[in-house]
Amino acid sequence: MRHIILYLLACCIANTLAAQKLSVSDLTCEYQSNPLGLDVPQPRVSWKVVSPARNTLQTAYEFRVGTDAKTLPRGQGIVWQSGKVTSSQSVLVSYKGPALLSRQAYYWQVRVWDNHGNTSAWSPINRWETALLQPADWTAKWIEPILSNDSVNQPAALLRRSFTLTKQPASARLYVTAHGLYEAHINGKRVGDLCLTPGWTSYNKHLQYQTYDVTSLLKQGTNATGVILAEGWYRGELTWDLRTNVYGNKTGLLYQLNVTYTDGTSEIITSDSQWKTSTGPIRKTSLYYGEAFDARRDNPAWTTTDFNDSAWQGVTQASYSNINLVAAYGPPVRKHETFKAVRIFKTPKGETVIDFGQNLVGWINLTVKGRAGETVRIHHTEVLDKQKNFYIDNLRAAKQEVLYTLKGQGTETYSPRFAFFGFRYIRVQGYPGELTPESITATAVYSDMPATGSFTCSNPLINQLQHNIQWGQKGNFVDVPTDCPQRDERLGWTGDAQVFARTAAYNMNVAPFFRKWLKDLTADQRRDGAVPFVIPNALDSNAVASAGWADAATIIPSVMYRAYGDTMILKQQYESMKAWVRYMEQHSKDYLWNTGFHFGDWLFYRPFDDNDGRAAVTDKYLIAQCFFAHSTQRMIEAARILGRTSDEQHYSAQLLKIKEAFVKEYLTASGRLVSSTQTAYVLALHFDMLPEHLRKSATERLVQNVSDYGSHLTTGFLGTPYLCEVLSRYGYTSVAYALLTQESYPSWLYPVKMGATTIWERWDGMKPDSTFQTPGMNSFNHYAYGAIGDWMYRTVTGIKENAPGYKEIVIEPQPGGKLTHAQANLETPYGRVASSWKINNGTITLTVEIPTNTTGRVILPAAARATLSIRATEKPGPPLNGLTPTADGNNVSITLGSGTYTFEYPWTKIE
Ligand code: BGC
Repeated sequence: MRHIILYLLACCIANTLAAQKLSVSDLTCEYQSNPLGLDVPQPRVSWKVVSPARNTLQTAYEFRVGTDAKTLPRGQGIVWQSGKVTSSQSVLVSYKGPALLSRQAYYWQVRVWDNHGNTSAWSPINRWETALLQPADWTAKWIEPILSNDSVNQPAALLRRSFTLTKQPASARLYVTAHGLYEAHINGKRVGDLCLTPGWTSYNKHLQYQTYDVTSLLKQGTNATGVILAEGWYRGELTWDLRTNVYGNKTGLLYQLNVTYTDGTSEIITSDSQWKTSTGPIRKTSLYYGEAFDARRDNPAWTTTDFNDSAWQGVTQASYSNINLVAAYGPPVRKHETFKAVRIFKTPKGETVIDFGQNLVGWINLTVKGRAGETVRIHHTEVLDKQKNFYIDNLRAAKQEVLYTLKGQGTETYSPRFAFFGFRYIRVQGYPGELTPESITATAVYSDMPATGSFTCSNPLINQLQHNIQWGQKGNFVDVPTDCPQRDERLGWTGDAQVFARTAAYNMNVAPFFRKWLKDLTADQRRDGAVPFVIPNALDSNAVASAGWADAATIIPSVMYRAYGDTMILKQQYESMKAWVRYMEQHSKDYLWNTGFHFGDWLFYRPFDDNDGRAAVTDKYLIAQCFFAHSTQRMIEAARILGRTSDEQHYSAQLLKIKEAFVKEYLTASGRLVSSTQTAYVLALHFDMLPEHLRKSATERLVQNVSDYGSHLTTGFLGTPYLCEVLSRYGYTSVAYALLTQESYPSWLYPVKMGATTIWERWDGMKPDSTFQTPGMNSFNHYAYGAIGDWMYRTVTGIKENAPGYKEIVIEPQPGGKLTHAQANLETPYGRVASSWKINNGTITLTVEIPTNTTGRVILPAAARATLSIRATEKPGPPLNGLTPTADGNNVSITLGSGTYTFEYPWTKIE
């Protein structure tokens, strides 16, 4: 490096400015803003430190909690206060006060001190409210509509009652759940805006109830309430075997409305024998079938006091233990983006089809006018076939149908509620009048996960790939992480979730989403430690323990810990992780695990016209051994983090033996693996299975293999996520770029070139001649191969966590692949990290942003021999004197505090 120029912006005024401006923002409690209905004994709060000055670190905080929002700012009525704690912790700080009471609002504030000598003001007041913490808090009884038999696809049940409130309610909370799916109404208004409640959990062990603030829906005098109940995951068809009544054969409701009057007295209205039941307009509804709605039977007054229910039947009261009840702890499913038709057209077969331009998961919104009894029939699908006809064969038994029978009174609107559909296209039959883009729109429905990451670059195909990855995530994060959202499956496949989790954590905040699902993983894990193929487990108890699938038990908690710094996830999952590793150990002999059924490198490259014997088959037990080691490594880390020293020692010793067994069984003396595939080398290298001295040659073999396939990948579900990462780790980023930018099959961009708007299940779901892969397994919305997203953030723009939750950050961009610019942002628990680079006229300009209360290390690519000029921008601060660029091979590494920085230097290296 010849010389460095520092451009400094008005740094002197900065410190005075900073004195007034230190503050906190984005206050959350258990990842939510002002949550209602929390049953966590010691809730954890987080905040972001905001400062206009560079290099800002929190040095101390104070956190106080009270039960009265008015007196809290005066420091009165305090339930607990931390006092000034010397600590830089601003993420997931635990409440440590007295045991929390049920149904109580707790108000809290925080203030912070920084390393520049500033103190913030107390933050605005936030709150959390507890749920029903004791079993005795529930006085409601389970009630069930009377079903004629336990067949499925029956009409949704309506349940209602009226009640009188003697005084004006000051506050009211509804605690409600169901066996099946529910939608609650009070006085003609829908309660809340959540979809598919109570969500899908291993119901027999965890059944979530939701809490709603319904104060504004109630009045003094007579009130009415009604709930619709549908089969949902609880007893509707599930899995390709179309199993029914998986959790029970009756839908049911548990409903408790706690009302507090202005004078402090209270009243409770519950589900009990006073409720009446009937059926209404939803004649049939289930997840795979769809919904049949007869609007002639719709009486919108049914949840108002005007409705006469004397002809309705009584309900059955049922008794179930409430031991499985838990306050909702996963992010709820809500409606998100709405799409208008981009094209309405007739197919060669003469069918009317609407194209929404995006493969999405959710449902349609129908607006229609016509005669009573006319029926609109809609089918949903993802693709058109080669002839441009509506193609449904890959949906298998899932009908994805909506049948709407008109009431015949003016303009009618309708959307399904208790089913969801995977689709880009709909076929419309029987629509009265002319179909316009306003007639039917589509709404995406998925779990609430704040968007955290974005990635763009100069290659539009890669941008579309990123778009497809994000839409694959939206469509398959519908309360549980599913394999696919359209055919008769939609299950929480552990392998798929495991390979995609790291990418998912870049795109959106998925910590609470996975924390919920992992609880079910533990709940459904067999006593011998075997982890089911799918969670919640709707398959047999022997559908367990496949390598790379079951390892979701160890991998996902570690990934969440790295991304969010949430030790609780590790603690919660620790015994489950251990049990899984123990299972592998018990099923191995001398630490060689070569028994049992495994899916292997699922959907690896296998040419259709395979006449020359080419197929990238990797020995399944070789894979199993790699995951045995990987999971053991995750245990070592978890044990270290949680301070379980003897476990750490035990697993460290075990890992050596597992690797020895691997080398003995699968590696030749000269370093060749028994399976000469990309996946074999990728897993062996990524999981450090090979002795140091053989890693270089193994990488060369991998590179040669990629080249033998003409710069194509041949990996399946298990090899794909780490392929580019391994190449980069061993200095072959240019090969990784060649794979990323490859446009012909098999590659990530091939589906993009074929018009994909989501990630496909198979590399060749649609072949170059527009025919399809086998309909038996050909989803066009399967996120697994989207796992490349991780490498794009991590290597192209170089954003990586260097300490859990991004308390320390590394930004190490590696330009390549003929890209001239790339940019990514990531909202971490501390604030925004950004990295963007641009190459123009032989100069690279790199801008990075490091959030407050973190430190970053920026590694400037190919900068060691350049004339380096560093410009600090936007956030003024003390001079950058402290910067000590150090040559690191070809690169330059700089440690930085919070702020935005731009670097500019001559660029010589670009492929
Ligand atoms: C699913 C996959 C899953 C696989 C198991 C398929 O039917 O769609 O994504 O991981 O089965 O091999």
